[in-house]
Amino acid sequence: MSVKIIDHALIKHKLSIMRDKDTSTYLFKQNLDEIAMLMAYEVSKDFPLKLKDIETPICKTTGFELAEQIILVPILRAGIGLVDGFRMIMPNAKIGHIGMYRDEETLEPQEYYARFPKGLESSKIIIVDPMLATGGSADMAIEDIKKRGGKDIMLVCLVGAPEGVKFLQEKHPDVDITLAALDDHLNENGYIVPGLGDAGDRLFGTD
Ligand code: URA
Repeated sequence: MSVKIIDHALIKHKLSIMRDKDTSTYLFKQNLDEIAMLMAYEVSKDFPLKLKDIETPICKTTGFELAEQIILVPILRAGIGLVDGFRMIMPNAKIGHIGMYRDEETLEPQEYYARFPKGLESSKIIIVDPMLATGGSADMAIEDIKKRGGKDIMLVCLVGAPEGVKFLQEKHPDVDITLAALDDHLNENGYIVPGLGDAGDRLFGTD
């Protein structure tokens, strides 16, 4: 398994805007869309291709097309925020959904909804969630997808905590993780420090 932190000036700039507590819901989403596009571009760089016969206005030649169906799986609700940006870059991706909420007492994730397109077993599955905190939600999502036959799974998050990354690396060594930033630690309330606060609340304007 690999953990990759994307080193990109635009991502650093935009993520800093998102971290700022005074950034509006509108600008938060705007920057999340833009980062999601940049991350989608990065993680798809080496996706397998197959050859395809095409005809240009000049002659016949051989081009490429993606060899695998992509299934994007946002973890509800904050994961929804990454979908638009990914779909700009991967418009043919199908979308699965996993609904999780965090029990405020135990901080443990609870699954309340799951629905997937057909073909998990032969697709490239990208689970998206802005925050990788304890790793509990991502673990539950990965377990669920594996149980349904998914094999080729990657996880893409905006901000990760070392605790969550370590947990997932040990539990799912076959799942690659990509982050825009690896932060310092989790605090006693399960928030990433410095983080950006509650991603779902900031995205949807709730509190
Ligand atoms: N979920 C969030 O939205 N923010 C955190 O800091 C941790 C988990």
